[in-house]
This record gives sequence, C-alpha cells and structure tokens, in this order.
Amino acid sequence: MAEATELLDAGERLGAQALRALQLERLRATLRRVYENVPFYRKSFDKAGVRPEDCRTLADLARFPFTTKADLRANYPYGLFAVPRERVRRVHASSGTTGVPTVVGYTEGDLSMWADMVARSIRAAGGRPGDMVHVAYGYGLFTGGLGAHYGAERLGCTVVPASGGMTARQVRLIQDLKPRIIMVTPSYMLTLLDEFERQGVDPRGTSLQLGIFGAEPWTERMRQEIEERFAIDAVDIYGLSEVIGPGVAQECVETKDGLHVFEDHFFPEVVDPVTGEVLPEGERGELVFTSLTKEAMPVIRYRTRDLTRLLPGTARVFRRLEKVTGRCDDMVILRGVNLFPTQIEEIVLRTPGVAPHFQLRLTREGRLDALTVRAEARPDATPEAREAAGRSIAAAVKEGIGVSVGVEIVDPESLERSVGKIRRIVDLRSR
Ligand code: DLL
Repeated sequence: MAEATELLDAGERLGAQALRALQLERLRATLRRVYENVPFYRKSFDKAGVRPEDCRTLADLARFPFTTKADLRANYPYGLFAVPRERVRRVHASSGTTGVPTVVGYTEGDLSMWADMVARSIRAAGGRPGDMVHVAYGYGLFTGGLGAHYGAERLGCTVVPASGGMTARQVRLIQDLKPRIIMVTPSYMLTLLDEFERQGVDPRGTSLQLGIFGAEPWTERMRQEIEERFAIDAVDIYGLSEVIGPGVAQECVETKDGLHVFEDHFFPEVVDPVTGEVLPEGERGELVFTSLTKEAMPVIRYRTRDLTRLLPGTARVFRRLEKVTGRCDDMVILRGVNLFPTQIEEIVLRTPGVAPHFQLRLTREGRLDALTVRAEARPDATPEAREAAGRSIAAAVKEGIGVSVGVEIVDPESLERSVGKIRRIVDLRSR
C-alpha cells in the first residue's frame, strides 16, 4: 500500500473479512429499517416475497427487488424518506433533464457521513489538511458544490466556494488566492483552460497541483490533456445524488487505476442491464447501489444506469469501479452499430480547431436514423479550420466506429449547459 496507514481512517483500515462482516450487519439493519418505515419498500418486498430477515449473506441481496429512477419520481417528493421530515436537515434535487425532478434528503448524520466520504475522497486524491481548495462545481440543488465544500472543510482545508460560471473571474481567483486543488467538472476545466489562454496566462504556471474531476464521464485522453496542459494530477470522483452525491467512489492519486467504492457505506453490484442478473466481478454491466448507513433516504438496489465493472482493490481494501464511460440510456444504436458519447469525445479531443464540447443529435431521415455530431469551434478557429475539423471528425467516426455521421461545427459556448454538464444526446427521433 503506497499510502502510510496512519493517514487512513478507520473504515479504510478494515481487513477484507471485517469489511464484509460490517457490510452484512449494516445491510440487514437497512433492510429492516426501510421495511418498517417506507411503505414503498414494504410493498415491493412483499410483492417479491422477501422479508428483511431473508438476507443472511451479502449474496442474498440479489433476492430483493430493484429501485429505479421511475420509483423515485412516482414517490416525489418525500415518499421514500424513512424519517419524519423534521429530522431532514437538507434536501437536494437531481438535474432532471426529463420531466419530474427527484428530491433526496439528508439527516444530520447523513450530512456528517457525506462530509467524511468527501474528505476521504480528497485525501485519496492527494489532498491534505491545510490545502486550499477551489470548488467550481455548482452550488445549489446540485450535490456537487455543497458536497465538495463540506468534505474539504471536514478534511481541514481552506475552501474557495467559487461555484460554476463567470469563467473570467474563476481565472482571476485562481491566480490571486493560489489554491493547490481544484474540484470541477472535467468539461468546465477545459473551458477554464481556454480562458487562461485567452487572458494570456500560462495554465502550467498556476498554483494548482491537483484536480478532482467528476459528475460526468471523461476519458483517459481527457485526463492526459488536462494533466499536460495544466501540469497537474487529474483524478476521478464519482457519485450520484440518489446515493449521496460526490464521494461514493474515488480514484487514488498514487495508482490512478479506477475508483475505489466506499464500500463500508455503499454496497455495489453490477448487473446485466437487460435481465437484471448479478454479474461476476470483472464483467461489464449496470452499476447498482444499496446504501448501508443512510438514514433519511436509504436506497435498496438502486439502478444507476451507469455502465462499468467491479475490480479488486489495489491502493485500498475497497473494490474498484472501472472509469464509468457511459450510461445504458446513453448508448446509441445507429443502424446496428453501438456507439457511446465517450467514443466521439476521443475523436473530438484529438481534432484541431474544435473545443472538447460536443453534443449528439439523433434524427430520423425517412426510415433511417441519422446522427449529427455538433462540436464547438475554438474561439480562434478560422472558417477553413472549422471546415477541416468537420471533415476530419466525420472521417474518424467512419473509420473508428464504422458509421457515417453528419458533423456541424458550431460557435464557441453555443451548446446549452446545465450545472456545467452538456447534455450529450438530444434525441429528436420521436417527433
Ligand atoms: O453528478 C454528483 C457528483 C458531483 C459526482 C460532483 C462527482 C462530482 P448527479 O447530478 O445525481 O450527481 O448525477 C449522477 O452523473 O449517475 C453518472 O451518470 C454521472 N457521473 C457522476 N460522476 C461521474 C464520473 C453528481 N466520475 C450521474 N464519471 C451518475 C462518469 C459520472 N460519470
């Protein structure tokens, strides 16, 4: 283990056997609690013919029914809370790109556990007490800003709560306040890169040494680009509001080999997205989480729609997630070819003249599905450079993925963003 053990917290120091025993104890308590306190879970367990006491081993969890985003929507806003509303100290809500949003709640204990998990994440990323942390995840209903904020404070860092947006001011703050760490979506980090360059400031010359990036999929190629152009270490943080927010899994800076799931609080499974069958370690499928210690809104076998696989632990006892490269609902099947936005990202990133901000538009032409890649031009790209970029992306998609697509190079900053994330797929086929 590369990290001195005295830097690890009690959960990280557990042996594998003690960890499994703790998980089982916490899992059984969670199942009992939701069965007693949440009518939705009581009904769904009864319907599946299982009782909390049927869970005698961790593998027995597979007998319990899944929970989906649709269940959260159907019980909007407080139907899945397991404590009286008065015990809830805070709510957050999902970005909800489609229809009804979903609300999640936290007791005081949940907020404290969350801060501990983000503190653990920052430490695994290489942060230490006394570091200065610039938080450019959005503050508000989105869990990124406040989640990162309280975790950094819990670790003993000095926090700059910059939130998202006002890019020119972010660059100024970074130069003046000299943070060592930045926490932000990887795509917004690239927007900051453009702004540094626009202002004629060398991005390699800042005080930043470490970036903790998440909230959206990003590739090894994007890691390379960020690390090289800022001269920093770039590591991955994963989470979702339904489980808690950022701090569900974190990559360690010394190995950069995937994200350790904080298994003492969140139990992961990977299932076949179609049949729901639990897959063995190492096989790719849909990630499913059961919370082990949450009080206000425990979740049982929540289907994340995120695609990844579980791998054995390395720098920590916890199992790792392979970098999440896409979501089940992100996969586009275009004339029989499966395609993920991250594959397009790889291509866009290596194309001169375009910024790494893109969107995929699906339309139907006659009876055939058509895909258009819309990528933002770099501010300094000439009309000729834009045209060449369009041709080059179309050729690379044809060669690398095997389908013909249209490409539109659009103006800088013209694709719509929400909490720093660009909506990757716009499906216009049903209209
Ligand atoms: O994005 C929480 C978060 C904030 C994580 C800041 C990391 C940093 P939601 O808005 O509920 O919560 O979106 C959750 O975002 O199911 C994934 O599809 C995606 N996602 C989050 N982190 C990563 C990551 C926050 N590191 C959804 N890699 C998740 C890939 C990610 N996808």
